[in-house]
Amino acid sequence: MNNLSVDHLTGIEQLSAEDIEIIFQTADQFKKVINRPIKKVPSLRDITIANLFFENSTRTKLSFELAEKRLSADVVNFSASNSSVSKGETLIDTVNNILSMKVDMVVMRHPYPGAAQFLSERIGARVINAGDGKHEHPTQALLDTYSIRERLGTVAGKKVVIVGDISHSRVALSNIYALQRLGAEVMVCGPTTLIPKHIELLGVKVSHNLREALEWCDVANMLRIQLERQDMQHIPSLREYAMRYGLDKSLMDSLEKEIVVMHPGPINRGVEITSDVADSQNAIILDQVENGVAIRMAIIYLLAVKIERQ
Ligand code: CP
Repeated sequence: MNNLSVDHLTGIEQLSAEDIEIIFQTADQFKKVINRPIKKVPSLRDITIANLFFENSTRTKLSFELAEKRLSADVVNFSASNSSVSKGETLIDTVNNILSMKVDMVVMRHPYPGAAQFLSERIGARVINAGDGKHEHPTQALLDTYSIRERLGTVAGKKVVIVGDISHSRVALSNIYALQRLGAEVMVCGPTTLIPKHIELLGVKVSHNLREALEWCDVANMLRIQLERQDMQHIPSLREYAMRYGLDKSLMDSLEKEIVVMHPGPINRGVEITSDVADSQNAIILDQVENGVAIRMAIIYLLAVKIERQ
């Protein structure tokens, strides 16, 4: 039975390898749909979904909204910046008011780690985590690993380095869990100040040398420096960071093999990656964005099917 083991998607930590395979197989079908002239299916005509974004987003918000509309769900959007949250309303009060309007599923981005889990334990609707502070960004990790599978045929046995600000990144933790579930080897690379102490306990390798990391890997996932989540300065300057950890064409050309380059976006061109690498044949950055819609359609569909079976 193609049934997820979870009722909510709060993190990759809660998913099994089998869950991820079910999501990928469902996304394969939806990817065919969104490449047809008529990109819509009537699957979720009876479902209403609220997108609650308490933090800024471009890709994730648009991708969820497109995924929902292509499944024919009814969609309502909420942004904290122009809501009653600024008048002191709590998260639970805000969500319960929205649920009173008969919403079946909530997609939420929130600055506090654990916010999606907190909500899932207190409301009747399905909850999908669209990023909770520095904790997890599960749909990003699913679309990232799906894109590796698409480019390289499989994730199992591949060597993936995640480069940059690991300490402040929800993308890094979700990717580590997803890659390991699927049998990849994972390394993190960056300055000591941006790599959490004892991260080896998660079963990842650590390097502070970008060239060494790139020579080891099949795939490099270049992360952005999360200045908005840093409470102090962890690097001398962006220029010095770019000199030691930025990926440019001369470094790519000096490697003895081809590697796949990924980035979750938004890109700081000239800091973690130069334009000639970001726009090269090695980069699958726009494939990641395209796959995000199919992956999110799959997750929404699989969780909605569980509502209908209740
Ligand atoms: N990758 C990602 O989460 O981008 P947004 O912040 O634009 O949603």
